[in-house]
Amino acid sequence: MVESISVRLTNQTNGKVHDRVLLDDWHPLARSQDLKPGTLLRSRLMETDLVLWRGETTLSAWEDRCPHRSVKLSGGKVVDNTLVCPYHGLAYDPQGQCVKVPAHPNYVPPKQSCVKTFKVQERYGVIFVSLGNPQKEVAAFLEWDDPSYRTYLSGPHFCRCSGLRAIENFLDVAHLPFVHAGLLGEPDQAVIEDYEVSADENGIYLHDIRIWQPDPDGTGQGRIASYDYWALRPLTASLRKEVSEGHYMMLLYCVTPISEEECLSWMWGALNYAHEIPEAEMVAFQDKVILQDVANLESHQPKRLPLDPQAEFHLPSDRASLAYRKWLKQLGLTYGAIA
Ligand code: FES
Ligand code: FE
Repeated sequence: MVESISVRLTNQTNGKVHDRVLLDDWHPLARSQDLKPGTLLRSRLMETDLVLWRGETTLSAWEDRCPHRSVKLSGGKVVDNTLVCPYHGLAYDPQGQCVKVPAHPNYVPPKQSCVKTFKVQERYGVIFVSLGNPQKEVAAFLEWDDPSYRTYLSGPHFCRCSGLRAIENFLDVAHLPFVHAGLLGEPDQAVIEDYEVSADENGIYLHDIRIWQPDPDGTGQGRIASYDYWALRPLTASLRKEVSEGHYMMLLYCVTPISEEECLSWMWGALNYAHEIPEAEMVAFQDKVILQDVANLESHQPKRLPLDPQAEFHLPSDRASLAYRKWLKQLGLTYGAIA
């Protein structure tokens, strides 16, 4: 208990998170289709309660707190392109400014009567929010708009672990034959040959990891598949899998840090084959794979990712994990990690 409190104090002061890297990044929070015009959604990001709401043509992401008496705005409703607080009926416009006070119809609210707002945008059918000042765009996923690829989205999937553990698991090819036996590998064909890792300020790149899979392209024929992985941001990674000659599967994987030990997983897929398989089947397969991962991810102890190389022992096939942890340390990342 004493240890967990002291770790938390290094990352937070008076409830404020100090991890600039994650504060300044974009995080997926909700599917666009789940927030219709004139409605709102509750959300949570890095222990900050948020309310997302749509006006007729606007999209807003705010702290879920009315600045008048600090009740949750998500208990209110959207009326005439404003968000109306449930307590005294104050109405806030899409920029967060109070524009109406029912108790005093002639009162002009001062500039300070404003909700705390955050940057928000939509990409790949999902609403992304940043709590800080993002230096980069949402990670590119070019195949999403390429008509030669068919696309799908799986998630969000809730998991009780640090988002960093989830990304490291995505980069860890040696778990495929065991956690996903029969789907993405087989325990008696678990050999991982040496592979290359390169790292620079833009992230980690894992090149041509080869692994035997029972049915990599849906034809029922087992063969060696080749994976390339990129860790693009601390909580964003992607992969390209060559399942057979000229057939590629691309995945973009983002993990939303709800807290240091709770996250949501989002997986966007794009394939330039299997156009005939219904989208629901593709999503069901991906959901199944992710849920297999959740069981292991929730059993990590500690739930946060240790960045000290001595904290756990490593194998040659853990080269990717080691590079990822080293990169996070260089970035100065603390949220969800143990230094
Ligand atoms: Fe929101 Fe008073 S607390 S209107
Ligand atoms: Fe997995």
